[in-house]
Amino acid sequence: MEETGALGVSPVRIKAAAASASWAKPLGPAPMELRKLVAGNWKMHGLASDIDEIRGIAAASRQYAGVDVALCLPAILIERAVRAVPGFPIGAQDVHQAEFGAHTGSVSARMLHDAGASLTIVGHSERREAQRESDPQVRAKAEAALSCDLGVILCVGESEEVRAAGRAVQTVCSQLEASLPGHDVARLAIAYEPIWAIGTGKVPTPGEIGEMHAALRGCLRRAFGDGGARIRILYGGSVKASNAAEIFSVGDVDGALVGGASLKAADFIPIVAAAAAPVT
Ligand code: PGA
Repeated sequence: MEETGALGVSPVRIKAAAASASWAKPLGPAPMELRKLVAGNWKMHGLASDIDEIRGIAAASRQYAGVDVALCLPAILIERAVRAVPGFPIGAQDVHQAEFGAHTGSVSARMLHDAGASLTIVGHSERREAQRESDPQVRAKAEAALSCDLGVILCVGESEEVRAAGRAVQTVCSQLEASLPGHDVARLAIAYEPIWAIGTGKVPTPGEIGEMHAALRGCLRRAFGDGGARIRILYGGSVKASNAAEIFSVGDVDGALVGGASLKAADFIPIVAAAAAPVT
């Protein structure tokens, strides 16, 4: 019988200090448990004067060899950060789907790769809403990034109204199915980010997170067979040091996408530490 933890959900046992893996390498054969990924999303924060904070985060993350850590920065900071913390994964927060062309203000996957980025977020709800990005567009962005050897964190999540109407799982699964890239998923991760939890301090219950992540795992398995079991599913939305351990103890939570609490090493590193700690 499957063991259940204090939250009434199956605990995830974390692989102890596995060999270091980077976003630049595809994951190997199906592991029993996936290495956790904790990625910071700096949104529209960060100046040259914050490079020291990035150095601090990169240095402190090295203590946690069993966890993949990355920072997704404003595009203009990427190259400077890559030079400041060689070997530490620096990512973008968005990418244009086209290879090049008349797209004023946009940045292509090749440009991000050229600047030294190793991953990018796509489909964040702040872009889906403010820039009216559609599922097919998010899918095209994911495919463009993967084909330039960038890792991708593809975000999905429901509004408060959809959750209140009892349609959260169905809505988020449809969003995922319509946004999923069709190929080369070895460098893909999914982030479940309920819109109502982003920057609000509100967090779904462990039961709600577990239900959603299990449903998303089902979608990934239907889409990619055994490969779907190796795609990490991150939780995002008001993750902080005080709730990270509980969130990481939920089944099929393979890491976190962290906004506000990723800006300072003092807030972010305890989250990385929680991802590294074995679930008891
Ligand atoms: P938050 O943001 O951690 O500040 O809620 C998460 C995100 O938007 O990725």
